[in-house]
Amino acid sequence: MGKVRVFRCKVCRDPYIGEEPPSRCPFCGALGSYFVPAQEWNPSEYLFQISDVSRANLKAALELELNNTAFYLCAMNAAKRNGDEYGYAKFKALKKVENEHADAILKFLGIEKPELTPVPCSNEFEKNTQEGWDREDRAIKAYAKFAIEASELQLRQFFKALVEIETDHLQLHSENMQKRP
Ligand SMILES: [Fe+2]
Ligand SMILES: [Fe+2]
Repeated sequence: MGKVRVFRCKVCRDPYIGEEPPSRCPFCGALGSYFVPAQEWNPSEYLFQISDVSRANLKAALELELNNTAFYLCAMNAAKRNGDEYGYAKFKALKKVENEHADAILKFLGIEKPELTPVPCSNEFEKNTQEGWDREDRAIKAYAKFAIEASELQLRQFFKALVEIETDHLQLHSENMQKRP
């Protein structure tokens, strides 16, 4: 066994213990390249003025993430009712990641987390996978635009990281649409 260290994810800011950074953040799904050794963490990087444009975009992103969290929660529960262990695991993982994105956005906005409004879903894995794909596609397009519009380097990087993560989710849905595992 190798020696473990503490790392921190620059996207969700959560700590991680391991020999090396993971390939994806277990909390927010960011690529391992966003991890830094915890000793090198500089909290002042997150203290900056947020422009009106970026504030509005962060609020829109928060809405998207909360809505997607509620959708994946519904899909997770539907899979559980159906005794579909794979569907349960997949939608639960997606729900957790989208919830983490909402939390990361709230850290920038410095506001309280709103109640989660329930979102309906299908009872079928295939239909929820299709809707998940549509939702990830919309999120990717929105975040790509927000990244371009952000005058703050940190927010450009943050939205770019979200695009990468939601692209992972899009690809996962695509694979599931072609062939049920
Ligand atoms: Fe993370
Ligand atoms: Fe997300």
